[in-house]
Amino acid sequence: MTLTALQDFTALEAALKDVSQLLEETFDALLPVPDSGERRVVEAMRYALFAGGKRLRPLLTIATADLFDVSRTSSLRAAAALECIHTYSLVHDDLPAMDDDDLRRGKPTVHKAFDEAVAILAGDALLTFAFEILADESTHMDPRVRSALVSIIARASGHHGMVGGQMLDLDAEHRALSEQEIIRLQQMKTGALIVSSVEAGAVLGRASSHARHALVAYARAVGLAFQIADDLLDHTASAEDMGKATGKDAEQGKATLISLWGEERAREQSQILTDQALAYLKDFGNKADLLRDIALFAIHRRR
Ligand code: IPE
Ligand code: IPE
Ligand code: MG
Ligand code: MG
Ligand code: MG
Repeated sequence: MTLTALQDFTALEAALKDVSQLLEETFDALLPVPDSGERRVVEAMRYALFAGGKRLRPLLTIATADLFDVSRTSSLRAAAALECIHTYSLVHDDLPAMDDDDLRRGKPTVHKAFDEAVAILAGDALLTFAFEILADESTHMDPRVRSALVSIIARASGHHGMVGGQMLDLDAEHRALSEQEIIRLQQMKTGALIVSSVEAGAVLGRASSHARHALVAYARAVGLAFQIADDLLDHTASAEDMGKATGKDAEQGKATLISLWGEERAREQSQILTDQALAYLKDFGNKADLLRDIALFAIHRRR
């Protein structure tokens, strides 16, 4: 049961703030600006990472890892890697050749603050940096765990996942897509990285296959609900609240579940997905309360 209008996100907001701060300390330590010719690309990487996103994927990794009492160093490093990949995806998504956006996280996009070439390179470097972080011994002492993380996150990021979804998304501007096609697009473009954020926590925690399957099913529902909310917010929210341009999907004639279903049905479906997500957590007890809050936040968020 979900109390939609009265939902209290105080605990979740506090957790997001804590994770944000820990992440910024981590990025600060891992990514110093060099005093050499390549400094501009590092400045652009830092500009994108420190612009202050919601940090939802890192929180998913840490909240999942916490179910299994994983060390904070391990979960934070995996979380940082996932945020690097997510941030790279946004830097490239905003480029003129893609969504051509000038505002992101309330600030000029990387290609506006720097230039297009630097934005492309900063994205490339954020993606590869993520794997440098994951592969390092300090992420986990067992090389099999590190290799499992690398493999799961690589698959979710590339043509099987986010990049594949972005490819389908470009097509959605020129062609009416069926419901199934839009759902597949969204599962790839947004869902895959969200699922891998949760799966990374489960892998670090050496979760049983039963627990891992339940957590992945939870994350699939959350991922889809999260992108439906993104499309609803694109439809209804202000650029000021979102820190990015809105109204773009309709302007570009993009096929989304909102264009197909309308706002009301999209809201109903996202609530159904959230209820499903919560049902998958039933065996985890109070320890999973933060994951429950995240599922609700995914659809009731205002930004
Ligand atoms: C935006 O993601 C792009 C999508 C995949 C929907 P977020 O809404 O998580 O963006 P930030 O990280 O908070 O800026
Ligand atoms: C982008 O989706 C998802 C990514 C994989 C980057 P959108 O294009 O809808 O994201 P926003 O609305 O620009 O954040
Ligand atoms: Mg896009
Ligand atoms: Mg975009
Ligand atoms: Mg959007």
